[in-house]
Amino acid sequence: MDRALIKRILAGEVQADEVLVCGWVRTKRQAKHFSFIQLNDGSCLTDIQIVVDAGVVSDEVLSAITTGASLQVTGKLVESQGKGQSFEIQASEVVLLGSAEADYPLQKKGHSVEFLREIAHLRPRTNLIGALLRVRSKMAFAVHTFFQEREFQYIHTPIITGSDCEGAGELFKVESTSGNSSDSGENNEFFGKPTYLTVSGQLEGETMACGLSNIYTFGPTFRAENSNTSRHANEFWMIEPEMAFCDLEMDMTTAEDFIKYLVQYALEHCAEDLGFFNKFVDKQLFDRLEDLLKKPSHRLSYKEAIVILKKSEKTFKYPIEYGVNLQSEHERYLTEEYFKSPVTVYDYPKEIKPFYMRQNDDGKTVAAMDVLVPGIGEIIGGSQREERLDVLLKNMKKHNIDEKDYWWYVDLRKYGTVEHSGFGLGFERLLMFVTGISNIRDVIPFPRTPGSAEF
Ligand code: 4AD
Ligand code: MG
Repeated sequence: MDRALIKRILAGEVQADEVLVCGWVRTKRQAKHFSFIQLNDGSCLTDIQIVVDAGVVSDEVLSAITTGASLQVTGKLVESQGKGQSFEIQASEVVLLGSAEADYPLQKKGHSVEFLREIAHLRPRTNLIGALLRVRSKMAFAVHTFFQEREFQYIHTPIITGSDCEGAGELFKVESTSGNSSDSGENNEFFGKPTYLTVSGQLEGETMACGLSNIYTFGPTFRAENSNTSRHANEFWMIEPEMAFCDLEMDMTTAEDFIKYLVQYALEHCAEDLGFFNKFVDKQLFDRLEDLLKKPSHRLSYKEAIVILKKSEKTFKYPIEYGVNLQSEHERYLTEEYFKSPVTVYDYPKEIKPFYMRQNDDGKTVAAMDVLVPGIGEIIGGSQREERLDVLLKNMKKHNIDEKDYWWYVDLRKYGTVEHSGFGLGFERLLMFVTGISNIRDVIPFPRTPGSAEF
């Protein structure tokens, strides 16, 4: 008999009278003449109830069926008498695949997220992390669907790179453990030059867009920031579309549409898991998600944002002044308190932004944009790119970037240069927004943060 997924059974999609399921025991209640086992296989949030009449398994096996043990159960599918359950299984055979030792750490519900991080290898068996991982998987699929439906090409940009796209100098260096020299290498560097783990696939993405028109990347990204916040990880996943023949206006529209699409997708395809988050993690979750779909995104310039923030009479930890970077507290004031909706801030002072952003005619600002959402702050950062060779070279000089190191990037401006734009969405920030989970460490299977890479 083929194994049936519990999700399919509970959805009423399994027609057979007899079924075979496998999973891990969540709880067992033992009475004199029968036992109830709650079994979960991770295919959905809800456990299936297994009814085991006395005599179906030996007393020895029955007592070894404890929380955390793995089972294979064959039995009759019956409509459940209990409330909240559609089907249960009247077991005819129960095979104990693997018992769980008495110190199994997930004996009861309601462990703290901090504790669960210490057992990242076992936490997929909890409702919280199970639900998150299913939503994460669905959202990854939704990212591809959004772009594929719009004829964007999916590009794999390198993870090992010689460039520092964001210019922030927060790089992890790549070295070989068997010595860094190769025959071809100068400076004792394996690749003949210093290389790092990528902080963004954007620069390589631009080369692809200037040939394919519309592309997107979706890959791991690494930043050696030593910031222990709930929104920063040293390894995270970023989605970076890049569009040729596209200005900042179109870039912002794509970004806003993208977020809405993903939220809509989550509500449609992850209803059970989001219901769990709405009940146990963040009671405002559904309201906030539905709100985002209803309300248009507000757009305002950085300059206007500063005026609003200065007028707010709030005491910010980081005082606000024209020319400073917006901090999370400023972003959250704008989106949570002032506009109570997503906000797109554009045209930032050029001094606080990377070399590749397109200079505006005022000579002071660049065509940058950030999308801010309630509860998170910045979820997307993007810009129109500097496509004018002379302006780009000047910008590079100002940022102390040697144009020789970026000759291929400069080439794009020499051969058929075009207006182009793009942005980056932090996948974990999106997941925090969609689930209400407030710490980035709980939306990625194995978080990488300063001092922490156990698994
Ligand atoms: O604003 P960022 O640094 O933009 C770029 O990297 C551009 N090259 C993107 C582009 O235009 N193609 O990063 C983009 C997004 C942020 O808005 C945030 O959501 C996420 O990436 N992000 C992080 N997420 C988790 N941990 C970190 N340390 C992050 N740093 C950025
Ligand atoms: Mg940014």
